[in-house]
Amino acid sequence: MSRHPAFAIPPCPPSPSNAPDAVLPIGPDKPWLAPLAGYSDLPFRLLCREYGAAVCVTEMVSAKGLAYYSPGTAELLHSLPEDQPLVVQLFGAEAEFLGRAVAMLRAAGYGWFDLNMGCSVPKVRRQGAGAAMLADAANILRVARAMLAEAGAGRVGFKLRLGLDAAQPGPEGLLQLALALEDAGAGWLTLHPRTAQQGFGGQAHWPAIARLTGRLRIPVLASGDLFTAADGLRCLAETGASGLMYARGAMQDPAIFAAHLALCRGESPAQPDHAALRRMIVRHMELARHHCPSKAALWKMRSVVPRYVRALPGARDLRQRLCHCTDWQELETALDAFLAAAPAAALTPDTSDHP
Ligand SMILES: Cc1cc2nc3c(=O)[nH]c(=O)nc-3n(C[C@H](O)[C@H](O)[C@H](O)COP(=O)(O)O)c2cc1C
Repeated sequence: MSRHPAFAIPPCPPSPSNAPDAVLPIGPDKPWLAPLAGYSDLPFRLLCREYGAAVCVTEMVSAKGLAYYSPGTAELLHSLPEDQPLVVQLFGAEAEFLGRAVAMLRAAGYGWFDLNMGCSVPKVRRQGAGAAMLADAANILRVARAMLAEAGAGRVGFKLRLGLDAAQPGPEGLLQLALALEDAGAGWLTLHPRTAQQGFGGQAHWPAIARLTGRLRIPVLASGDLFTAADGLRCLAETGASGLMYARGAMQDPAIFAAHLALCRGESPAQPDHAALRRMIVRHMELARHHCPSKAALWKMRSVVPRYVRALPGARDLRQRLCHCTDWQELETALDAFLAAAPAAALTPDTSDHP
């Protein structure tokens, strides 16, 4: 396979969190940032860490993309010393490619990996990857063993949904799969308790998380409908999960990590106000501008900012206005004009986001 001239896996910055004897922070007071395709890039991960995310997971990275030297794939791996501990999430369906991807990443210094078995997007499922893997437990174990052989026992997590639909693999099949992954040397499992057929519809079925935590010795991380820090604490209490990952909750409000840590300490989280919201958004812009100095980062931020202010009246108009911003200063000016006009009382958490 010939290497694209622009291809090089960016080396993982040296970090004690990747040392051979290191352990990942997992616990009720160690909230993770979930893998979020299109969102959990370097600037967003750094922002979430500033608010207290203990571990961040990259956007999903194609194992074949690495094996075929796709430069776009390598870009997803940019990291920094302050972006550790970092888990690289891979997707793919074939043991050979996933094993090779982990070997390449290990050689570049990465220490922790996750396999995506939850993505229900047709483009991924058509390749037999993401949630489509759940149709074939034997293949999952082949892939798991290939990844663990390269990474080392305990260094790979597996992110699951309930199944393709309610019948496949079904609650007992899922439990057997989870136990087999544990036996194979998995470091942790994450469950987003919806089927692929459900996508993001309906409610996450947290009792399915409790079922796994009751039977496994390795940590189980909860995912699903964690829109606020209060949801997170309730989920931990109801499921006995070892820890959790914030996904859409963090996309709407990265300060969810600080709120989570405050609740863990028995304190009340800081009340949201316009000044804190502005600080957060401007910090995200700074990080994006600094670490991804291309126009693409600006285009991306034009769609991210409206998400942060979606609870405020006029957010839709702001989205329109931001579409015309061609530099960072214009973006900041439009944000300030919007916040100056927005009523302070409207800042309440919004839990209605179901992409
Ligand atoms: C925009 C978006 C992108 C996502 N990308 C990934 C991904 O790359 N890998 C993955 O395993 N899950 C991905 N997920 C699923 C989340 O990690 C999480 O499991 C799911 O959103 C349920 O959590 P929540 O209801 O608290 O948002 C994504 C979800 C969203 C909304």
